[in-house]
Amino acid sequence: MGRPILKVMITITTIKDMRDYSAEVRRNGKTIGFVPTMGYLHEGHLGLVRESVLTSFRTVASIFVNPAQFGPNEDLDKYPRNTEKDKELLEGVKADVLFFPSVREMYPEGYSTYVTVEGALTDTLCGALRPGHFRGVATVVLKLLNIVDPDRAFFGQKDAQQAIVIKRMAKDLDLRADIRVMPIIRDEDGLAMSSRNVYLSPIERAKATVIYKSLSAAVDLVKKGERSVREIKLAMSAMLEAEGVRTDYIAAVGADDLRPVEKIKGRTLIAVAAWVGSTRLIDNVIVER
Ligand code: PAF
Repeated sequence: MGRPILKVMITITTIKDMRDYSAEVRRNGKTIGFVPTMGYLHEGHLGLVRESVLTSFRTVASIFVNPAQFGPNEDLDKYPRNTEKDKELLEGVKADVLFFPSVREMYPEGYSTYVTVEGALTDTLCGALRPGHFRGVATVVLKLLNIVDPDRAFFGQKDAQQAIVIKRMAKDLDLRADIRVMPIIRDEDGLAMSSRNVYLSPIERAKATVIYKSLSAAVDLVKKGERSVREIKLAMSAMLEAEGVRTDYIAAVGADDLRPVEKIKGRTLIAVAAWVGSTRLIDNVIVER
């Protein structure tokens, strides 16, 4: 009786080896799906990997905590890391390759090139509060797409602005990869999955559920016929304030162009960035009228 063949994920740390791997897959006429991450994986990431495995011959996931997308006072140094656990999780969902480059490999000495998606897509929401963040994201994603050369790349809707910025970049720069955005994965109590949830104390974790509750209240208001963004925001901020959750923003913007709207009309993104203790969390819903 033949032994079952165990498919083992391989880890690649250099750009050259990653390119060689992808070139070989593509030479054989096969497809590559790609899931870029900063590690500390949760069900949200794993859902992206599963989707890639379903749709692509080979799936590459990357783990790279990208210094270029963190501001000077942000959490780069304490960003959670657990690569051994991440490897087990990726093997569990049948990723073929982990691309795990060092900072040196990605940004060698003399590195000087950055990608900026200009205008409304990056001036607003998180872009207004985290200067340089989307420049760092666009730069690393373009580099990763160049290195991995996938047919499709998967991103989560939780980072709605990031997804729109990356789609714009991919279109503007004629990238080959199809950018796919997958729905938000939530915990049972509604909290959107995020690597940063690990920062929350049990009390903060409970308070954080008010973020999705406020977004759900907005959805209900729209369903009942409320069109005024002012009224919706007031209802949301009352709920968030009652839990002592401070907001960076509560915004209603066009779901594709991120332009602020006063009345809910068409596909509208309602997005929140909020501080629960010293942890900044983001979440969103799309409503349609
Ligand atoms: O969403 C993330 O984890 C990161 O912003 C990404 C897309 C992996 C780029 O560093």
